[in-house]
This record gives sequence, structure tokens and C-alpha cells, in this order.
Amino acid sequence: GEMRPWNGPVSEVYSPVCVPQPDGTLQRKLVGSFPVTTDKEALEALDAAVAAYDNGRGEWPTMSVADRIRCMETFVGKMLEQKKLVVNLMMWEIGKNLADSTKEFDRTVTYIYDTIDALKDIDRAGSRFRIEEGIIGQIRRSPLGVVLAMGPFNYPLNETYTTLIPSILMGNTILFKTPKHGSLLHYPLLDAFRTSFPKGVVNSIYGRGANVVPPVMQSGKVNVLTLIGSSRVADELQRHHPKLNRLRSIMSLDAKNAAIILPDADLDVAVKECLLGALSFNGQRCTAIKIIWVHRSISDAFLKRFSPAVSALKLGMPWDEGAQITPLPEPQKTDYLTGCIQDAESHGASIMNEGGGETTASLFKPAVMYPVQEGMKLYREEQFGPVIPVVPFDEVEEFINYLITDDHGMQASVFGTNTDRIAELIDPLVNLVCRVNINAQCQRGPDTFPFTGRKDSAEGTLSVEDALRSFSIRTCVATKDT
Ligand code: G3H
Repeated sequence: GEMRPWNGPVSEVYSPVCVPQPDGTLQRKLVGSFPVTTDKEALEALDAAVAAYDNGRGEWPTMSVADRIRCMETFVGKMLEQKKLVVNLMMWEIGKNLADSTKEFDRTVTYIYDTIDALKDIDRAGSRFRIEEGIIGQIRRSPLGVVLAMGPFNYPLNETYTTLIPSILMGNTILFKTPKHGSLLHYPLLDAFRTSFPKGVVNSIYGRGANVVPPVMQSGKVNVLTLIGSSRVADELQRHHPKLNRLRSIMSLDAKNAAIILPDADLDVAVKECLLGALSFNGQRCTAIKIIWVHRSISDAFLKRFSPAVSALKLGMPWDEGAQITPLPEPQKTDYLTGCIQDAESHGASIMNEGGGETTASLFKPAVMYPVQEGMKLYREEQFGPVIPVVPFDEVEEFINYLITDDHGMQASVFGTNTDRIAELIDPLVNLVCRVNINAQCQRGPDTFPFTGRKDSAEGTLSVEDALRSFSIRTCVATKDT
């Protein structure tokens, strides 16, 4: 894309993809750089959002829903023109394979159209008048103000847009900070935002969140904080807001989604779904299966199938045909994962699959660890990468207790064929996490299903219709029927 001249500080973006150097070593490839926003510029960008909102009197928050939708449709048209560039940047910046990068782009377009449809429904229902106790009421959904939005590296486009699109459509104005890995792909799209919406509706800042966000929060002008990322970063950013208890936060955070394989499970199904659940995009999904509990009576049988299936996954570069395991973008990740494996080994677990844990540059061969138990890092920490802890159990109660005592509460998967037994588990599980997947991996989609979590895993609900509600408030115009 076109690069603008820039004299200030820049942050370089290195690809997880390594290239050979003249001295024979492998080094991460430099893909580009972005200008780092100074405090002054961050506050100017915030003020642009505040001015465009203008206490609810701005052009955007007062525009009709039909006209807002027209602007969004213009945006999608421009976004589609950038597909090739965005997909290429996604592969280079975060190492996501071609099929998944393309899917992420297409899914985002579908998501926008689904959100437009849901908004039409909400608007139609809201514009009906009702009369009660002699008062004519028009119930509306109104914007909340200025939204500070921050997205994650693992779904830099799709997850970021699941906060941006509904907040824009509901009439809010936005200050958007891109993630470091997955920043460059936003450049062409930010131009599309700027030319599709009135001035000041979408404003962007770049840089490390810990540096550029605190002054913005301290200003007290942010009405909604939306973040998809880690619980630690969420705490750190929220605390800068002068009225912390009044700050509305909509967040999707850490998770340790657990799968349970019951004695009567169909092992072909369990192996296939756990493989997808634990290792799609190298396990770098908040919804990934991050720990597998298997009944002791079938643990050997399960591992005998699961371990070779893990080792058979194809390692490669994002653009290689059929590559399933690709380079990891977070620079210290391989060291962290190796540390988790060593910690588990020192407490009595072993690597169960051939080549598990071997590394070449930023490629990491997935490892299955067994038997994992309390006290090991892998038992509680969200590894967010291709190492899969497997825990043997005797009583289902052990699994339930694990969920009760865990700090997370996003999703769980249950594998079994005894429908009565599964039915008994559903209520306790759905009251501990927010989605129970029966004989299926954990996942966010379809995007119209509620997506949220309990405890440290989320605040508010994302997904198509829920997000439109999360980024707005129910208001009413009441007239006495005299
Ligand atoms: O990182 C968390 C994402 O929401 C995962 O989404 O389940 O569609 O892969 P997904």
C-alpha cells in the first residue's frame, strides 16, 4: 500500500516467518512499520471522536439507521477491494495459513451483513409505539458515546470488527488501537472507514497499549472500553479510568476451555474434534480446547489415536498448501511452551507424540503431555499455543471441581454417547461456562450464537445481535395521551 511520509518514532513489525541471513542464521522477516502515536496525538484522536459524537448531537449519532446502514454498505464495498492485500498481510504478520486467513476475511464480511440485518430487526421492533397507563412510548436504542476499541493479534480482523462494527452502527464514535501483530493489515481498511463515514467517526492510534492507552483512559472521556485480549491487560487499562465503577466494559478475555471424554465416547469423533479444537491456528484461539480430561479406562485408547494424529499435522509456511501448524507470532512463545513442557516433565508427565515440542525458528511441533495434574503450569495456565495437557480422571466430579475452582468460564466440550449421562451434565456445565459443546470442539461461531464468558473470561456479550445491544442503551420518548 501507499506509505505516507513520517518523521516520528516507528514500531517495526517482524513476521513470525523467518528468512535465512548471510551468516546462515534464521531471522524473523521485517514486514513493515507503523508510526507510534504520541500522548498528544492520542488525545487529539480521542478529541476528534468526542467532537464527532458532540454529546449525542453530532451528525453520526443523530443519523437515521437507514443512512448509517448505507454508510456501512459503502464501507464493505471498499473493504472487498482490499481482500488480497489484507489476506496477504495477515499471513505475513501473524502466520495464519492461507485458508484460515481467507476464511477470516470472508467471515468478517458475512458478520457485517448479519449485523446490518439484526439492526434492521431491532430498529423495526423499536420504532413501534406502545401505549400503557395513558402514556405513548417510543422505545429506542441509543448510542453510548465514545468507544475505545482494542483487538487481538489472533483474529486481528474478525474479532476486532465484532466490536467496531456494532459500535459504529449503533451511532457511537470510535477510537481504535490496532494490535501490534496485525496492525499493518488495518491501514487500507482505515482509509475505507475514513471515506465511508462522516469525519471523526473512526479514529486510530498505534503503539503499545500500555503506553498509548493510559492518557486516553485518564481523560475520563471514554464511555465504553472494548477489548479482546488478556484479563491482565484489561485490569491494567480499566484502572486508569477516573470513574472505574461507571466505565462500561465489553470484553472477551482469557480462557482455559476444558474437554471431557466420557468412557462411552466415540473416540473417532473425540480425536477429530479435539485435534481441531486444540490446534487450529496453533491453539492460538481464546476458544481453543486448552485441557483434555479423559476417563482413565479409555485414556490409553484415546492417546493411541490422538498422539499420532497430532504428529501427522503438517508444519509449514502460511502459504504452503495444506499447512496446519505455522510459525508463532509472539517472540517468546516457543521458550514459554518449552518451559511448560519441562515443568510438566519434572512433575511426572511425558511427551506422548513423536517429535512433540521440537522447534525450528518459530515453528513449534505440537506436544501432547500426559498425565497432567494439579501443580503443573499446564493444569491452570492458558498456554495459548500448541501444547495439549491431558488429564486422566475417575469421577466426573473431579472435572466439575476443576471448572468450579478455575478462574475462567468460557466454554467446555463433552464427548460421550450416553445421552442420559450427557443430559445430566448440561445444567451444571452451562452454569459454569457459557457454551457447552456436545461431541464437538469449542468455538465462537456461528457468530449469531452468544459469545461470552464468566469470571475472568469476559464482560458483556459479543456476537451479532448481543453486540448491538451491548454497544447501545435502551431509551424512550414518552408522551402523555391527553
Ligand atoms: O480467540 C478467540 C476467538 O474468538 C476464537 O474464535 O472460535 O471462531 O476460532 P473461533
